[in-house]
Amino acid sequence: MLHNLLLLFVFVITCFRYLILATATATATAGVINNNDLQRRKLATDENPGFVSIDCGVEDDYFDNSTGIRFKSDTEFISSGENHDTFPEYFLNNEQFGKRYETVRSFPNGMKNCYTPKLEQATNNSFRIRASFAYGNYDRKNKIPKFDLYLGVNYWTTVNLTNFEGFFYEIIHVFPADTEYVCLANTGTGTPFISALEIRPSNISTYGNGSSLELINIGLYDLSSYPGQSPGVRYKDDIYDRVWYPSQLPRSVPINTSSDIDTQGSGNLYKLPVEVLRTAVRPFNGSNSLSYSSSFASSYDYNLYFHFAELEFFEDKQREISITVNGITQGPFTLEYLKPLSISFQRLRTVEGNITFTISTTMESGLPPILNALEYYQLKQFTDSATDPSDVNAIMSIKHTYNRDDWQGDPCLPKGYSWSGLSCHFGSPPRIISLNLSSSKLTGEISPSLAHLLELQSIDLSYNDLTGSVPDVLATLPKLKSLNISGNKLKGPIPQSLKDKSDHGSLLLSFDENQTSCHRDPCEGNSKKFIVPVVVSIIAAVALVILLSVLFIFHRKRKRKQTEVVNNTTASNKEGFLKSKNQPFTYSEIVTITANFKTGIGEGGFGKVFHGHLNDGTPVAVKLLSSSSKQGYKEFQAEAQSLMIVHHKNLVSLIGYCKEDDHMALVYEFMSNGNLRQHLFSTNTTVLNWNQRLQIAVDAAQGLDYLHNGCKPPIVHRDLKPSNILLTENMQAKIADFGLSRAFSMDTSTSSISTALAGTPGYIDPELHASGTLNKKSDVYSLGIILFELITGLPVQIKNTEHIMHIVDWVTPMIEEGDIRKIIDPRLGSDFDVNAAWKAVEIAMWCAQLLEQEAAAASFSRMLVLQVS
Ligand SMILES: *[C@@H]1O[C@H](CO)[C@@H](O)[C@H](O)[C@H]1NC(C)=O
Ligand SMILES: *[C@@H]1O[C@H](CO)[C@@H](O)[C@H](O)[C@H]1NC(C)=O
Ligand SMILES: *[C@@H]1O[C@H](CO)[C@@H](O)[C@H](O)[C@H]1NC(C)=O
Ligand SMILES: *[C@@H]1O[C@H](CO)[C@@H](O)[C@H](O)[C@H]1NC(C)=O
Ligand SMILES: *[C@@H]1O[C@H](CO)[C@@H](O)[C@H](O)[C@H]1NC(C)=O
Ligand SMILES: *[C@@H]1O[C@H](CO)[C@@H](O)[C@H](O)[C@H]1NC(C)=O
Ligand SMILES: *[C@@H]1O[C@H](CO)[C@@H](O)[C@H](O)[C@H]1NC(C)=O
Ligand SMILES: *[C@@H]1O[C@H](CO)[C@@H](O)[C@H](O)[C@H]1NC(C)=O
Ligand SMILES: *[C@@H]1O[C@H](CO)[C@@H](O)[C@H](O)[C@H]1NC(C)=O
Ligand SMILES: *[C@@H]1O[C@H](CO)[C@@H](O)[C@H](O)[C@H]1NC(C)=O
Ligand SMILES: *[C@@H]1O[C@H](CO)[C@@H](O)[C@H](O)[C@H]1NC(C)=O
Repeated sequence: MLHNLLLLFVFVITCFRYLILATATATATAGVINNNDLQRRKLATDENPGFVSIDCGVEDDYFDNSTGIRFKSDTEFISSGENHDTFPEYFLNNEQFGKRYETVRSFPNGMKNCYTPKLEQATNNSFRIRASFAYGNYDRKNKIPKFDLYLGVNYWTTVNLTNFEGFFYEIIHVFPADTEYVCLANTGTGTPFISALEIRPSNISTYGNGSSLELINIGLYDLSSYPGQSPGVRYKDDIYDRVWYPSQLPRSVPINTSSDIDTQGSGNLYKLPVEVLRTAVRPFNGSNSLSYSSSFASSYDYNLYFHFAELEFFEDKQREISITVNGITQGPFTLEYLKPLSISFQRLRTVEGNITFTISTTMESGLPPILNALEYYQLKQFTDSATDPSDVNAIMSIKHTYNRDDWQGDPCLPKGYSWSGLSCHFGSPPRIISLNLSSSKLTGEISPSLAHLLELQSIDLSYNDLTGSVPDVLATLPKLKSLNISGNKLKGPIPQSLKDKSDHGSLLLSFDENQTSCHRDPCEGNSKKFIVPVVVSIIAAVALVILLSVLFIFHRKRKRKQTEVVNNTTASNKEGFLKSKNQPFTYSEIVTITANFKTGIGEGGFGKVFHGHLNDGTPVAVKLLSSSSKQGYKEFQAEAQSLMIVHHKNLVSLIGYCKEDDHMALVYEFMSNGNLRQHLFSTNTTVLNWNQRLQIAVDAAQGLDYLHNGCKPPIVHRDLKPSNILLTENMQAKIADFGLSRAFSMDTSTSSISTALAGTPGYIDPELHASGTLNKKSDVYSLGIILFELITGLPVQIKNTEHIMHIVDWVTPMIEEGDIRKIIDPRLGSDFDVNAAWKAVEIAMWCAQLLEQEAAAASFSRMLVLQVS
């Protein structure tokens, strides 16, 4: 449904081009964009070295008495979102998390909102990142939202809270740079929010053991006598501010000591706090082992860390313990009084979905095992790498130039969350390939940083309030194919370097005609009402003159050495099509290409068409101008010249031509699927489905739009009909046979011409036919008729037994009757969308001028509404 409407929307552009332009002009009012430039400062305070502690949603920084940590407001780390208060009733016993759960920042706008904490000397160091979420019914909706959390460009986790109280997600991560993004992504299941973001240094050589894997905290347990009673241990007892939950194992009893444990010694690799080590559990019964089994997602590996310290003093014995986890045993180890010992199991797989450990004691010691603390981590590989750094630098500068606060995190990733207006190629690393900032209320000058986005293929800055001149460095972008700067307040001439590219056909350049210092339009006063984007061609008179003289010289040279075989198109294509098209084919080459005119594939108003192959195998269609053609030389030349410089995906391309004495031929790209007429009206082809029909209509509309508005002077087709719409292998439609009228239309400024060459009956606007002129409007009429044919599957002239009826006369009463099913091609059955079909009918009516202007405008705005909703 949406797809159909989008297709129609593109189609409607041709008919409503000027309405759209008027609308765009009306809405492109200058707006003031908040400049909330981020000034990131060093956060670490002397009190908490290396800590970044952000309380989201608070106005002011504060010192948290319960933890001894100074918290910052988040305003300097993010440029979007709203502050809200939670309901305090959810956080009664809230000592451990202090004020942090009292406020949240929520993000109703934007698909991706990112915090960008900056640390000192963070690159290649590992940090524990803790993101806390306490819903606390802050929005009074009693509905917990669900959303995704990304770290840098990689998916971290889904924030899936089960209650209104707080929960945190924690990961040990190696920073790739001094900043790292923490992004909240809207997944359509509620407004993302966050309560706090804390970053703590970790020791890269302990937990991670140098691997590049991420460690997701599943649980840190302080085995002790007070499960659930104490708030747990964290900073300042734990210098890394780990949060240790008091916990107990089944069938165990707690033991403790008040003696000092040697936490400064080399045994304390993990720098466990003394409070955690001073408590432990042992089995109920001296002879038993300690064991525990729990289930985990089997698609991941896990790291387990067991921490011990002997708390009981024995005169003549020491505990000897072994640990077995999922069948892997380490030990025995001897525990020394008050000395820490840590044993890790890394990259464990689950067994039947479980991780099961058993700590047992050896016969020699005769003492039961103990366990002081235990940590579980899930391992995760982050696979995506950030967007190319030089692209990031350039786009960051553009972001700041235009105050795009909505652009957050990495420009391209995660997929589906690229910055709005950007398209990327998702290689490794991803690259920015197009930038569309059309109608984005941009002010200031065109940022020269655009020239550093080296993979850019398309830039659209149209309909903004950009001032200043056009930077010529844009011409250095090696892959730039399209640049649209129309609808701005730019001054000065278009740089020559860009003009050259445009003249060579390698760049599609759109700008306001009134921008250049050399106006060609004498009636400027009239055109001021519209912003008319003009695709500047290629067609500058000077270029044409040069071209013609080049052709002339070539022609003369050819005459002298007729036998010489030239023109390897593949080779010359690489140097740009202008050059290849400069070289006419000789007649003998045409004979070779068509294998002596072996396969005829049609006959147009111009002459016979033959199938052929270039010497590199490229299939082509060769249109041979019969020497008896009344239309003669002038027309041939006209078509050849216009086609050489007109390039659009919906127009059939001219590969070359031949003009040798009386022999004249045009070599076109071969369109393997024939023409639309065959597909619509011939009984031996498969029926075009609804989407194909709409796509063909859109393609034709775009091709025609280009002829009318992309070419200067405009090209009026004058003979648009289904047999002139050709189809590629993939059913892409391209308009053929245009340009025949070119030679005539050049003479007049009104771009209407006399009907020296009449179009095909039925497709010509009767009004205009009567007046004897054909112009853009009559092409649009023809397009409307073609759309009716696509909709109804009927030919333009419907033959009844008694008489011939025009399709418009057939369709008009049907429309009044209001039953779309009677209008739609019965071969489609019910495989079409009723709303889209009505829209298509409406558009066809307007194109064929069956609707008044006002009605058309109304239907257009309904279209727009549909688009938005
Ligand atoms: C925090 O501690 C300071 C000094 O230790 C004290 O003055 C202040 O009242 C305490 N604040 C709270 C909320 O307990
Ligand atoms: C970080 O590590 C990478 C790869 O080992 C190395 O190339 C880079 O120089 C390191 N950067 C810093 C700042 O240490
Ligand atoms: C979210 O939590 C609920 C309840 O615990 C669970 O049923 C659901 O599968 C979870 N969803 C995700 C995406 O984790
Ligand atoms: C990190 O741990 C290693 C031992 O695993 C130790 O040698 C090193 O000093 C520790 N670094 C810091 C900064 O604590
Ligand atoms: C770290 O990994 C290496 C092998 O990759 C291993 O030999 C070493 O024991 C590991 N260190 C720890 C503390 O697990
Ligand atoms: C230590 O254990 C004794 C009993 O053995 C108990 O009375 C005491 O409360 C415990 N203290 C701590 C801090 O766990
Ligand atoms: C301890 O173990 C013995 C023998 O295995 C058993 O008889 C006794 O009931 C156990 N005591 C407790 C408290 O589990
Ligand atoms: C897996 O662990 C659960 C407890 O989390 C336990 O009930 C179950 O028996 C265990 N399964 C196996 C095969 O060990
Ligand atoms: C840029 O986006 C606008 C609509 O937002 C669209 O009309 C225009 O075609 C786009 N430009 C390019 C080059 O795709
Ligand atoms: C700007 O020009 C390009 C190329 O001519 C075109 O694709 C694009 O749609 C234009 N943008 C708008 C907003 O019309
Ligand atoms: C060109 O014309 C448009 C439409 O009238 C106008 O908005 C724009 O400011 C003009 N540009 C210049 C450079 O005069």
